[in-house]
Amino acid sequence: MKNINQQYILKNGKEITIRNGAVTDAEKLRKTVKKYIGESEYIPQLPEEYTLTIEEQENWIKSFIEKENSIMLIAEYHNDIIGNIDINGSVRKAMQHTGGIGMGMLQEWTNSGLGTALMTCAVEWAKQNKILEILWLQVYTDNIGGVSLYKKMGFQESGLIKNYFKQDGKYFDNMTMSLSVK
Ligand SMILES: CC(C)(COP(=O)(O)OP(=O)(O)OC[C@H]1O[C@@H](n2cnc3c(N)ncnc32)[C@H](O)[C@@H]1OP(=O)(O)O)[C@@H](O)C(=O)NCCC(=O)NCCS
Repeated sequence: MKNINQQYILKNGKEITIRNGAVTDAEKLRKTVKKYIGESEYIPQLPEEYTLTIEEQENWIKSFIEKENSIMLIAEYHNDIIGNIDINGSVRKAMQHTGGIGMGMLQEWTNSGLGTALMTCAVEWAKQNKILEILWLQVYTDNIGGVSLYKKMGFQESGLIKNYFKQDGKYFDNMTMSLSVK
């Protein structure tokens, strides 16, 4: 069962909706992701490296709808997409019970509780999913807000590669975190 459509009132008093992403969201989502990639120092991708065509973005969304161990959720405010989260379940037999999490949001919405709302929806869904047993993610150790959120949700540190990211000559460590949803 994949249907999610939930309202949350955030710390800023604004009411937002979290719902399943649909293929028709492709264009709006692409704009939002491209914008927040440029705004965040903790996403290892440059806006110019985000080169998905609309068709590729549609197929990306479709893959989350079709795969039983995967989901993609978007957060909306007044019909604008302000953030998203996905659980990308592995297609390989030996790792089908694992799902990698990706998430992001427009800078103006950070520290509003939106990440907590998105992650709560995703984790609750994963707990009901019959295939998934482990969720995992990777995060810059310097991303204090992100690390705090993931720890609050029960994720545990499960690995660290020092100096994994190199941006403008500066190095950052990459931490893997995981959560059992069995
Ligand atoms: C990382 C991200 C997903 C977190 O979502 P968010 O909406 O900002 O997080 P929330 O407001 O729900 O929760 C953050 C928590 O960290 C805490 N926090 C933030 N900054 C902190 C700091 N400097 N010290 C201690 N705690 C801090 C907040 O108080 C909050 O905890 P609380 O709910 O108990 O008060 C979001 O900021 C984001 O998408 N950033 C840009 C892209 C990115 O980093 N993506 C993640 C890649 S792994």
